[in-house]
Amino acid sequence: MSKTILITGGAGFIGSHLVRRFVKNYPDYKIINLDALTYAGNLENLRDIESEENYEFVKADINDAEALRKVFADFQIDSVIHLAAESHVDRSISDPLAFIETNVLGTANLLNTAKEFWKDNMEGKLFYHISTDEVYGSLGESGYFTEETSYDPRSPYSASKASSDHFVRAYYHTYGLPVVISNCSNNYGSHQFPEKLIPLFINNIRHKKALPVYGKGDNVRDWLWVEDHASAIDRIFHKGELGETYNIGGNNEWQNIKLIRMLCKIMDDRLERKEGESEELITFVKDRQGHDMRYAIDASKLANELGWEPSITFEEGLAKTVDWYLENDDWLQNVTSGDYQKYYQEQYHSR
Ligand code: NAD
Ligand code: TYD
Repeated sequence: MSKTILITGGAGFIGSHLVRRFVKNYPDYKIINLDALTYAGNLENLRDIESEENYEFVKADINDAEALRKVFADFQIDSVIHLAAESHVDRSISDPLAFIETNVLGTANLLNTAKEFWKDNMEGKLFYHISTDEVYGSLGESGYFTEETSYDPRSPYSASKASSDHFVRAYYHTYGLPVVISNCSNNYGSHQFPEKLIPLFINNIRHKKALPVYGKGDNVRDWLWVEDHASAIDRIFHKGELGETYNIGGNNEWQNIKLIRMLCKIMDDRLERKEGESEELITFVKDRQGHDMRYAIDASKLANELGWEPSITFEEGLAKTVDWYLENDDWLQNVTSGDYQKYYQEQYHSR
């Protein structure tokens, strides 16, 4: 069946992988990528598919109600996959209001536009909201986040995402808007902005810069390859039950310091440096304020009900990721020029 899908945030990290997957795999679907092109959005990410007939880009802010109405009217949107967001925890600590603006108000604005356009006929419509496991808070040494875990967000980023999730559910219960939500663990892969741990450290190792490990490096994250996140979104988009939430994760927990040491080894090998050279760059710095200790996802609902599982191991994914950054130095140079330098100074030179 043909569909016209509005993907928001499609020029960002996860969004660009999702847009590419849908444009290539579903030639009968029309994909409208709406993105404000903030520092995190980059049309270079989509050069290979930008001239495909079933793809269209619209530069707009999700807070611009007029622009959203025009897109819904011009393209007769019947599905939304909503990824546009401010996504970096450290930035949310220094500028929380920007997160409320985009993640809370922007999402409410998008929900409202969908409701306005779909209210007379909700049949065949879908508002799919992409969220994070960080809404569940922080775990101790044991236990997992399930879909039943109470929300307990602790950073301005996770609080803004939790709030947006609540609004999505409120539109389902109050107005009958057909929605589905997924909450995913930390993603890694190509085209991720080098403010997040893995691309930041790859870039720093390459340029022999210090590797700023927050606190003792004992925090734990559960990592999923971005293309596996895109495949899970594809599955949930097509098979998920309306009103349901699905946790997405790779059952792949790593303590930061162990992951960083593994990354150093891979980089030494790829850059033909002597063993242990990159590890010498590790520098323990002041901890992140309110740093969540551990995230771990129980993704069994998605596996049991929709038959999804990740396609590759972390070792394979990390090796692919390192190779991509090493082969795409132009991309890195491009995104790290300009404002990035100022961000880096402010973020790391006071620690
Ligand atoms: P990203 O920061 O790489 O990309 C965000 C995109 O949204 C950018 O292209 C940016 O230009 C766009 N955008 C930002 N504000 C906008 C606005 N007001 N209007 C329109 N576009 C705007 O983020 P990402 O890592 O790709 O994350 C995408 C989504 O997935 C987010 O909703 C995030 O919360 C969620 N998520 C991310 C992860 C992760 O590990 N990165 C994990 C789970 C969930
Ligand atoms: P990050 O990639 O920012 O994702 P999130 O905070 O959403 O989990 O960080 C992953 C982990 O790495 C987190 O525990 C914080 C830590 N970290 C550092 O130790 N140093 C850094 O410079 C960054 C960016 C993150």
